[in-house]
Amino acid sequence: MSRVGVAVLGATGAVGQRFVERLQDHPWFELRCLVGDGSAGRTYGEAVTWLPATPLKPSVAARRIVRIDDLDPRDVSVVFSALPSGKAGPIESLLAARGFAVFTNARDHRLDGDVPLLIPEVNPEHLALVARQRGPGLIVANGNCSAIILTLGLAPLHRGFGVADVHVATLQGLSGAGYPGVSALDIVDNVVPFIGGEEEKLEVEPRKTLGVLRDGAIVPDGLRVQATCTRVAVREGHLVTVHARLSRQATLDEVLAAWEAFRPSAEVAALPSAPARPIELRPEADRPQPRRDRDAGDGMAVSVGRVRLDEDGRGLRFVVLGHNTIRGAAGQSVLNAEFALARGLLPTPRTRVASAASSAGVPVALA
Ligand SMILES: NC(=O)c1ccc[n+]([C@@H]2O[C@H](COP(=O)([O-])OP(=O)(O)OC[C@H]3O[C@@H](n4cnc5c(N)ncnc54)[C@H](OP(=O)(O)O)[C@@H]3O)[C@@H](O)[C@H]2O)c1
Repeated sequence: MSRVGVAVLGATGAVGQRFVERLQDHPWFELRCLVGDGSAGRTYGEAVTWLPATPLKPSVAARRIVRIDDLDPRDVSVVFSALPSGKAGPIESLLAARGFAVFTNARDHRLDGDVPLLIPEVNPEHLALVARQRGPGLIVANGNCSAIILTLGLAPLHRGFGVADVHVATLQGLSGAGYPGVSALDIVDNVVPFIGGEEEKLEVEPRKTLGVLRDGAIVPDGLRVQATCTRVAVREGHLVTVHARLSRQATLDEVLAAWEAFRPSAEVAALPSAPARPIELRPEADRPQPRRDRDAGDGMAVSVGRVRLDEDGRGLRFVVLGHNTIRGAAGQSVLNAEFALARGLLPTPRTRVASAASSAGVPVALA
């Protein structure tokens, strides 16, 4: 199979670097274009402060960063967006109108009625929403990083017992604030008990992902989430403490068995980025921990532990931890794109060239 040409928008940022790491040797996607704004014109190696442990390939480091209006639909059909929220929305809409398939991490399109907030292990049927988009391209969104981690942890409970009410407190790692992120003077020897806009996202987005697709629209789940989000001096990884109220009584063994049995469908399991076990249970009293558990499943599995069930069989407390820039961002987008490719939803070269011709003169760069 010839590989599909892809681009990364915001390639020098915290999420953009994870995209580059995961795409520089991908079996289905070929990384052909690195896009930036302030960094445009420099080579990637000069512009980036490379953070991942995986070495950056010299051929990628030597690539020159381009601007969004340099994207060529004859070369690239899939665009991974790690643009700042606020800037991202109009740029992504125009790219979709030019025929690109856009997989975005920004918040701007997450709640659009025709954009799936996709986790293929949880709501694969939501991908069908893209049929409502006007095309010729498409937009598929990732949830907020903590929302993805929480939603994965809740999904087996939601399926097995129903979940009515959830109270969460997050302890979110530094890379969640982008690069260079929070000032050292603010975070060393400290916890910051506020992250702008984060609590609202956690309260709304899991309801969409866990919602039902009915008559071509998502009916959000009735789940009520109340969140307090904090920034802690951890490099990578978001830890979420959860108090959930199940809709029906369960035993501790049933709850553990629901998490244990949670597996991707055969279709999703065949995708290159899908972990064999999206949820790993940690039986130890003091796990999961960010440093020890964030790389579970190559960063694509979340870890659940500290499970306690109230005597009434409905009040459940646990901790769920995930890698914010992998499962919570770039890894999730790449998995979503693999899923869309496997389902035959990515634009073919013929539709891309036709749409590029028909939208000639449309300015793509709005930033
Ligand atoms: N960090 C996380 O854990 C996380 C998780 C989930 C979602 N997200 C979301 O993912 C997005 C990226 O987050 P981040 O943490 O990676 O931010 P970041 O580190 O600040 O990176 C943003 C990048 O966007 C580039 N950029 C800005 N304006 C641009 C434009 N007009 N055209 C092209 N490139 C442009 C910048 O590169 P230049 O230097 O070239 O301008 C910068 O490298 C945000 O929407 C964020 O909310 C982040």
